[in-house]
Amino acid sequence: MKGIILAAGAGSRLYPASLPISKILLPVYDKPMIYYPITTLLLAGIKDILIITNPLDIDNFKKVLGDGSQIGVKFSYAIQEIPKGIADSFLIAEDFIGNSPVALVLGDNIFHGFGFSSMLKEVGKRDFGATVFGYQVQDPERFGVVEFDKNNKAISIEEKPKNPKSNYAVTGLYFYDNNVIEYAKTLKPSQRGELEITDLNKIYLEKNQLKVEILGRGFAWLDTGTFESLLQAANFVQSMEINTGMKIASIEEVAYRMGYISKEQLLEISKKYKQNGYGKYLEKIVKL
Ligand code: DAU
Repeated sequence: MKGIILAAGAGSRLYPASLPISKILLPVYDKPMIYYPITTLLLAGIKDILIITNPLDIDNFKKVLGDGSQIGVKFSYAIQEIPKGIADSFLIAEDFIGNSPVALVLGDNIFHGFGFSSMLKEVGKRDFGATVFGYQVQDPERFGVVEFDKNNKAISIEEKPKNPKSNYAVTGLYFYDNNVIEYAKTLKPSQRGELEITDLNKIYLEKNQLKVEILGRGFAWLDTGTFESLLQAANFVQSMEINTGMKIASIEEVAYRMGYISKEQLLEISKKYKQNGYGKYLEKIVKL
């Protein structure tokens, strides 16, 4: 399975904080925001990842992440010139995807919770149909919203409905079979002028090929779209990390635990950050 991170937005809702650099590279506590969606893909067993950025930020992303070889994976880069919609990712990434199934995660989506790794491992093996994730929220009208019948089967999906049929938002993590490229080509821009990911999901739903996994109450799906929510996300990560002594979304740790790099390689990386807790943490992991 291939992976895509969509990180091309201007992040204007966070101006002036995100004026100098993409929002997706701003820190969420102790690491750049993009570490979180990268971790999500790595946990799904995905090692070949395309990062879609805007033309201004591509060099910054390359500077932070390189070609991925330092953590035993492959990062490549593509540009989205104009924000034409989330589903545009599959048109941009057509050659990259080739004949594979593909997962897409939005660069500003942070997931954390018990059982997520095993859920991702399972979903990452699927090569038929589509899988999305539903999460209960207070303000569903801000999201794609999925409605269920009595047997918890998804029966409708709507993008930012005025009168939501449920409180379940569709999160920014999507798994598709290879047909997604052909389906994306059939999409027409919505009223707001975008190729909507919800329209793509509707195609799978109509074919009875859409699975919706529910992320339960013990789960955190964090928003980073406003000054307040970005700070809250950082505070959440800090308090979890302090309480448990474990880091959330350290890509180096995850790569090590997935067996992509050796102890020696992790130790080498830790030296780069030896003056702070991040480096000391990686050093500690090696010794466990
Ligand atoms: O976060 C989950 C929600 O994401 C879903 O529930 C919605 O169905 C989906 O449409 C999307 O809604 P948003 O209103 O949050 O999408 P937004 O336009 O804010 O874009 C999400 C991220 O993707 C953001 O970091 C900007 C980036 N983006 C967006 C578009 C439309 C791009 O890089 N390129 C684009 O063309």
